[in-house]
Amino acid sequence: MERRNAMATAIIGVGQIGSGLARDLVRGGERVVLAARDQSHADALASELGDRATAAPVREAIADADVVVLAIWLDQCRALMPQIADLLEGKVVVDPSNPIGFDDKGQVHRTLPEGTSAGSVVAGLLPNGAQFVKAFGSLGAASLANDANRSPRRAVLFYATDDDGAADTTERLITAAGFDPVKVGGIKDAGRIEVPGGDLHQNGGLNGRLLDVDQARAAVASA
Ligand SMILES: NC(=O)c1ccc[n+]([C@@H]2O[C@H](COP(=O)([O-])OP(=O)(O)OC[C@H]3O[C@@H](n4cnc5c(N)ncnc54)[C@H](OP(=O)(O)O)[C@@H]3O)[C@@H](O)[C@H]2O)c1
Repeated sequence: MERRNAMATAIIGVGQIGSGLARDLVRGGERVVLAARDQSHADALASELGDRATAAPVREAIADADVVVLAIWLDQCRALMPQIADLLEGKVVVDPSNPIGFDDKGQVHRTLPEGTSAGSVVAGLLPNGAQFVKAFGSLGAASLANDANRSPRRAVLFYATDDDGAADTTERLITAAGFDPVKVGGIKDAGRIEVPGGDLHQNGGLNGRLLDVDQARAAVASA
Protein backbone atom coordinates (compact mmCIF):
# COMPACT_ATOMS: atom_id res chain seq x y z
CA MET A 1 0.00 0.00 0.00
CA GLU A 2 1.26 3.48 -0.82
CA ARG A 3 2.09 5.80 2.08
CA ARG A 4 -0.22 8.81 2.15
CA ASN A 5 1.42 12.21 2.40
CA ALA A 6 4.71 10.41 2.90
CA MET A 7 7.98 12.11 2.22
CA ALA A 8 10.43 10.62 -0.22
CA THR A 9 13.51 8.59 0.61
CA ALA A 10 16.65 10.39 -0.57
CA ILE A 11 19.20 8.09 -2.18
CA ILE A 12 22.60 9.74 -2.40
CA GLY A 13 24.55 7.79 -5.01
CA VAL A 14 23.02 6.02 -8.00
CA GLY A 15 25.72 3.43 -8.62
CA GLN A 16 25.24 -0.29 -8.11
CA ILE A 17 23.55 -0.13 -4.71
CA GLY A 18 21.73 3.19 -5.12
CA SER A 19 20.19 2.34 -8.47
CA GLY A 20 19.12 -1.17 -7.41
CA LEU A 21 17.56 0.16 -4.23
CA ALA A 22 15.79 2.98 -6.07
CA ARG A 23 14.27 0.47 -8.48
CA ASP A 24 13.17 -1.85 -5.67
CA LEU A 25 11.57 0.97 -3.67
CA VAL A 26 9.75 2.53 -6.60
CA ARG A 27 8.40 -0.88 -7.54
CA GLY A 28 7.15 -1.18 -3.97
CA GLY A 29 5.24 2.13 -4.16
CA GLU A 30 7.78 4.37 -2.39
CA ARG A 31 8.85 7.78 -3.62
CA VAL A 32 12.57 8.44 -4.04
CA VAL A 33 14.65 11.53 -4.69
CA LEU A 34 17.98 10.74 -6.26
CA ALA A 35 21.32 12.56 -6.15
CA ALA A 36 24.81 11.85 -7.45
CA ARG A 37 28.11 13.63 -7.92
CA ASP A 38 27.23 14.01 -11.59
CA GLN A 39 23.63 15.22 -11.59
CA SER A 40 23.04 13.74 -15.06
CA HIS A 41 23.36 10.23 -13.56
CA ALA A 42 20.57 10.96 -11.08
CA ASP A 43 18.46 12.63 -13.80
CA ALA A 44 18.79 9.61 -16.10
CA LEU A 45 17.74 7.11 -13.43
CA ALA A 46 14.83 9.28 -12.26
CA SER A 47 13.42 9.58 -15.76
CA GLU A 48 13.75 5.83 -16.25
CA LEU A 49 11.89 5.11 -12.99
CA GLY A 50 8.90 7.36 -13.69
CA ASP A 51 6.60 9.46 -11.53
CA ARG A 52 7.70 8.18 -8.13
CA ALA A 53 11.33 9.23 -8.73
CA THR A 54 12.84 12.70 -9.00
CA ALA A 55 16.43 13.94 -9.11
CA ALA A 56 17.94 16.88 -7.24
CA PRO A 57 21.29 18.26 -6.08
CA VAL A 58 22.51 16.50 -2.93
CA ARG A 59 21.46 19.12 -0.37
CA GLU A 60 18.04 19.58 -1.97
CA ALA A 61 17.45 15.83 -2.10
CA ILE A 62 18.22 15.53 1.62
CA ALA A 63 16.06 18.52 2.53
CA ASP A 64 13.10 16.94 0.70
CA ALA A 65 13.36 13.57 2.47
CA ASP A 66 12.73 12.01 5.87
CA VAL A 67 15.09 9.11 5.21
CA VAL A 68 18.53 9.50 3.63
CA VAL A 69 20.41 6.51 2.21
CA LEU A 70 24.12 7.20 1.76
CA ALA A 71 24.74 4.80 -1.16
CA ILE A 72 28.33 5.97 -1.57
CA TRP A 73 31.75 4.64 -0.51
CA LEU A 74 32.90 5.13 3.06
CA ASP A 75 35.68 7.54 2.03
CA GLN A 76 33.20 9.50 -0.11
CA CYS A 77 30.86 9.60 2.87
CA ARG A 78 33.58 11.02 5.11
CA ALA A 79 34.34 13.70 2.53
CA LEU A 80 30.68 14.58 1.94
CA MET A 81 29.55 14.67 5.58
CA PRO A 82 30.77 18.20 6.45
CA GLN A 83 28.67 19.51 3.55
CA ILE A 84 25.44 17.78 4.62
CA ALA A 85 25.59 17.17 8.39
CA ASP A 86 23.51 20.26 9.22
CA LEU A 87 20.61 18.81 7.19
CA LEU A 88 20.57 15.39 8.85
CA GLU A 89 19.17 16.28 12.26
CA GLY A 90 15.79 14.60 12.73
CA LYS A 91 16.29 12.27 9.76
CA VAL A 92 16.83 8.55 9.54
CA VAL A 93 20.27 8.11 7.97
CA VAL A 94 20.91 4.74 6.35
CA ASP A 95 24.43 3.49 5.69
CA PRO A 96 25.10 0.47 3.44
CA SER A 97 28.88 0.99 3.29
CA ASN A 98 31.71 -1.45 3.82
CA PRO A 99 35.23 -0.75 5.06
CA ILE A 100 36.84 -1.79 1.79
CA GLY A 101 39.23 -0.30 -0.72
CA PHE A 102 40.98 -1.63 -3.82
CA ASP A 103 44.70 -1.73 -4.54
CA ASP A 104 46.33 -1.10 -7.96
CA LYS A 105 45.56 -4.67 -9.03
CA GLY A 106 41.91 -4.43 -8.01
CA GLN A 107 42.42 -6.59 -4.91
CA VAL A 108 40.08 -5.76 -2.02
CA HIS A 109 41.55 -4.74 1.32
CA ARG A 110 40.12 -3.63 4.65
CA THR A 111 40.34 0.13 5.26
CA LEU A 112 39.50 0.12 8.99
CA PRO A 113 41.14 -1.76 11.88
CA GLU A 114 39.72 -5.21 12.69
CA GLY A 115 36.74 -4.83 14.99
CA THR A 116 35.88 -1.31 13.77
CA SER A 117 32.80 -1.21 11.54
CA ALA A 118 32.08 1.31 8.78
CA GLY A 119 28.72 1.75 10.51
CA SER A 120 30.33 2.93 13.74
CA VAL A 121 32.44 5.42 11.77
CA VAL A 122 29.47 6.84 9.85
CA ALA A 123 27.32 6.95 13.00
CA GLY A 124 30.09 8.92 14.69
CA LEU A 125 30.00 11.54 11.93
CA LEU A 126 26.29 12.27 12.32
CA PRO A 127 24.88 15.24 14.23
CA ASN A 128 22.92 14.70 17.44
CA GLY A 129 19.31 14.01 16.51
CA ALA A 130 20.05 11.97 13.39
CA GLN A 131 18.92 8.35 13.68
CA PHE A 132 21.53 5.98 12.33
CA VAL A 133 20.72 2.67 10.63
CA LYS A 134 23.04 0.18 8.99
CA ALA A 135 21.00 -1.33 6.15
CA PHE A 136 20.72 -2.20 2.46
CA GLY A 137 24.32 -3.40 2.32
CA SER A 138 24.01 -6.98 3.56
CA LEU A 139 23.52 -8.38 0.04
CA GLY A 140 25.68 -7.83 -3.01
CA ALA A 141 24.34 -5.34 -5.53
CA ALA A 142 23.26 -8.09 -7.95
CA SER A 143 21.04 -9.74 -5.32
CA LEU A 144 19.64 -6.41 -4.17
CA ALA A 145 18.59 -5.76 -7.76
CA ASN A 146 17.50 -9.26 -8.79
CA ASP A 147 16.24 -11.08 -5.70
CA ALA A 148 13.51 -8.67 -4.56
CA ASN A 149 10.11 -10.32 -4.08
CA ARG A 150 11.63 -13.79 -4.17
CA SER A 151 9.08 -16.60 -4.17
CA PRO A 152 7.91 -18.69 -2.39
CA ARG A 153 9.82 -17.07 0.50
CA ARG A 154 11.33 -13.61 0.41
CA ALA A 155 15.04 -13.13 0.97
CA VAL A 156 16.17 -11.23 4.07
CA LEU A 157 17.88 -7.87 4.33
CA PHE A 158 19.56 -7.44 7.71
CA TYR A 159 19.75 -4.12 9.51
CA ALA A 160 21.19 -2.70 12.74
CA THR A 161 20.20 0.37 14.73
CA ASP A 162 20.01 1.68 18.28
CA ASP A 163 16.81 3.62 17.55
CA ASP A 164 13.34 2.00 17.71
CA GLY A 165 11.66 4.61 15.50
CA ALA A 166 14.35 4.23 12.86
CA ALA A 167 13.92 0.46 13.09
CA ASP A 168 10.21 0.78 12.22
CA THR A 169 11.00 3.04 9.26
CA THR A 170 13.70 0.66 8.04
CA GLU A 171 11.41 -2.36 8.30
CA ARG A 172 8.80 -0.55 6.22
CA LEU A 173 11.36 0.33 3.52
CA ILE A 174 12.93 -3.13 3.43
CA THR A 175 9.46 -4.65 3.07
CA ALA A 176 8.52 -2.17 0.32
CA ALA A 177 11.76 -3.05 -1.45
CA GLY A 178 10.66 -6.70 -1.66
CA PHE A 179 12.68 -8.28 1.17
CA ASP A 180 12.00 -9.42 4.74
CA PRO A 181 13.71 -7.29 7.44
CA VAL A 182 15.66 -8.94 10.25
CA LYS A 183 17.36 -6.88 12.95
CA VAL A 184 20.88 -7.92 13.89
CA GLY A 185 21.16 -5.61 16.87
CA GLY A 186 22.50 -2.12 17.50
CA ILE A 187 25.37 -0.11 16.03
CA LYS A 188 27.82 -2.30 17.93
CA ASP A 189 26.65 -5.22 15.76
CA ALA A 190 26.93 -3.43 12.39
CA GLY A 191 30.16 -5.26 11.52
CA ARG A 192 28.20 -8.52 11.28
CA ILE A 193 26.52 -7.22 8.11
CA GLU A 194 29.60 -5.68 6.51
CA VAL A 195 32.45 -7.12 4.49
CA PRO A 196 35.15 -8.12 4.98
CA GLY A 197 34.45 -10.38 7.90
CA GLY A 198 30.74 -10.07 8.60
CA ASP A 199 29.22 -13.46 9.47
CA LEU A 200 25.79 -12.31 8.18
CA HIS A 201 26.91 -10.64 4.94
CA GLN A 202 26.07 -12.46 1.72
CA ASN A 203 29.64 -11.99 0.50
CA GLY A 204 31.13 -12.70 3.93
CA GLY A 205 30.20 -15.59 6.19
CA LEU A 206 27.15 -16.54 4.13
CA ASN A 207 29.30 -17.48 1.11
CA GLY A 208 26.83 -16.10 -1.41
CA ARG A 209 23.69 -17.52 0.21
CA LEU A 210 20.39 -15.67 0.60
CA LEU A 211 18.45 -16.47 3.77
CA ASP A 212 14.74 -16.57 4.47
CA VAL A 213 13.45 -15.06 7.70
CA ASP A 214 13.68 -18.27 9.78
CA GLN A 215 17.20 -19.02 8.62
CA ALA A 216 18.17 -15.38 9.22
CA ARG A 217 16.83 -15.31 12.78
CA ALA A 218 18.66 -18.53 13.57
CA ALA A 219 21.86 -17.12 12.09
CA VAL A 220 21.58 -13.92 14.16
CA ALA A 221 21.12 -15.96 17.32
CA SER A 222 24.00 -18.31 16.55
CA ALA A 223 26.73 -15.69 17.05
N1 LIG B 1 28.42 -2.96 -4.91
C1 LIG B 1 28.05 -3.85 -3.99
O1 LIG B 1 27.84 -5.06 -4.27
C2 LIG B 1 27.85 -3.40 -2.56
C3 LIG B 1 27.25 -4.30 -1.64
C4 LIG B 1 27.01 -3.87 -0.35
C5 LIG B 1 27.37 -2.58 0.05
N2 LIG B 1 27.98 -1.76 -0.85
C6 LIG B 1 28.36 -0.42 -0.40
O2 LIG B 1 27.49 0.53 -1.00
C7 LIG B 1 28.18 1.75 -1.25
C8 LIG B 1 28.00 2.11 -2.73
O3 LIG B 1 28.60 1.09 -3.51
P1 LIG B 1 28.32 1.02 -5.09
O4 LIG B 1 28.89 -0.28 -5.55
O5 LIG B 1 26.89 1.33 -5.35
O6 LIG B 1 29.24 2.23 -5.60
P2 LIG B 1 29.29 2.88 -7.06
O7 LIG B 1 28.64 1.98 -8.05
O8 LIG B 1 30.71 3.30 -7.28
O9 LIG B 1 28.38 4.19 -6.92
C9 LIG B 1 28.75 5.25 -6.09
C10 LIG B 1 27.76 6.37 -6.30
O10 LIG B 1 28.06 7.38 -5.33
C11 LIG B 1 27.96 8.64 -5.96
N3 LIG B 1 28.75 9.61 -5.21
C12 LIG B 1 30.05 9.56 -4.87
N4 LIG B 1 30.41 10.66 -4.18
C13 LIG B 1 29.29 11.42 -4.10
C14 LIG B 1 29.01 12.69 -3.55
N5 LIG B 1 29.96 13.41 -2.93
N6 LIG B 1 27.77 13.19 -3.65
C15 LIG B 1 26.79 12.47 -4.28
N7 LIG B 1 27.00 11.26 -4.83
C16 LIG B 1 28.23 10.76 -4.75
C17 LIG B 1 28.47 8.41 -7.35
O11 LIG B 1 28.04 9.48 -8.18
P3 LIG B 1 28.33 9.49 -9.79
O12 LIG B 1 27.30 8.54 -10.37
O13 LIG B 1 28.05 10.88 -10.19
O14 LIG B 1 29.73 9.02 -9.96
C18 LIG B 1 27.82 7.06 -7.67
O15 LIG B 1 26.52 7.24 -8.18
C19 LIG B 1 29.64 1.49 -0.85
O16 LIG B 1 29.87 2.04 0.43
C20 LIG B 1 29.77 -0.02 -0.82
O17 LIG B 1 30.73 -0.46 0.14
C21 LIG B 1 28.20 -2.13 -2.13
